[in-house]
Amino acid sequence: VIYLNGNSLGALSLNVPERMADVVAREWGNGLVGSWDSNGWWDAPVRVGDRIGRLVGAAPGGVVVTDSTTVNVFKLATAARRMRPDRHRIVVDPRDFPTDRYVANAVAEGNVATTLDRDTAVVVSSHVDYASGVMKDMAAVTAEAHDAGALVLWDLSHSVGAVPLDLDGADVDLAVGCTYKYLSGGPGSPAFCYVASRLQRELDSPIPGWVGHARPFEMESGYEPDAGVRRLLTGTPSILALAALDAALDVFDGVSIDDLRAKSVALGELFIELVDERLGDTGVVVGSPREASRRGSHVSLVHPSAGKVVDALCERGVIVDFRRPDVARFGFAPLYIRFVDVWDAVDHLAAVLVSA
Ligand SMILES: Cc1ncc(COP(=O)(O)O)c(C=O)c1O
Repeated sequence: VIYLNGNSLGALSLNVPERMADVVAREWGNGLVGSWDSNGWWDAPVRVGDRIGRLVGAAPGGVVVTDSTTVNVFKLATAARRMRPDRHRIVVDPRDFPTDRYVANAVAEGNVATTLDRDTAVVVSSHVDYASGVMKDMAAVTAEAHDAGALVLWDLSHSVGAVPLDLDGADVDLAVGCTYKYLSGGPGSPAFCYVASRLQRELDSPIPGWVGHARPFEMESGYEPDAGVRRLLTGTPSILALAALDAALDVFDGVSIDDLRAKSVALGELFIELVDERLGDTGVVVGSPREASRRGSHVSLVHPSAGKVVDALCERGVIVDFRRPDVARFGFAPLYIRFVDVWDAVDHLAAVLVSA
């Protein structure tokens, strides 16, 4: 199998099954309820958050792992609106991943726009676009939003683990991201939230669950949020899913994100070069930016029969995905995709296109 879909569901890391078996048998089976303390379950959302923080340029205490990306977009977009009570609009990119648009629309009660103005409370934007692979200039977009008095909420789902990020350095306000793509956290692994330290005390989450309380075990009648990023926790964390993600992150230890990025860029460039050289007359068009600096870690090809092409590739063991109506996405997860995989995938693609 040539797995070029790590931008959708990251491949299983070799150490994860063993770690999961240990968490189930020893921590849950033997440790029982005591494992909340003795095996660090209670602190796992912030401990694992700090490991992700290293990958996104956030100091410890900036990231927490919780809920799904969708729920986190809802919590942070709502909190952002509450921080700008005199402003009514949310800016979204109409090409952005549907969940971000749907949630932004619901939070803004239909008052969404595509351009910034003095009525914009928050800009919700993917850093790397799920369909085209276009990568935005995070620092520039953030500065533009700030100049207009708005906050910015980045979706890093297609960036984290593949491209260098500097959330603290770029003065980002808020961010979310999923962990089952380049981080290989497993199907439906919990997502993360980032909140700039300067905003943490002010951030008012719309889901004041007991786990985000300053003193959760006091069972108080009133709600006081935790002073830090834990206030974004809602209910009891999903420990088994967190354990799989935690183990998957071991693979990133000692790996420089700049090295990963260099590999990802080289894989993408080889792919585009081979497509140009070998598939020029097949009707395939490169739908992603050709300049590596404007592209994430996947390359989209546009073809009128993209759906059939993707099915035929899958039959040959080349797993890529299809986005309606005419896009085939080739994801190059830099930790485990080799140059020979790119070469072989283009061989298969050439064979498939002849009969498409
Ligand atoms: C940009 C982006 N945001 C969010 C999601 C998914 O959100 P959730 O994890 O809530 O399913 C995806 C999934 O592909 C995505 O590409």
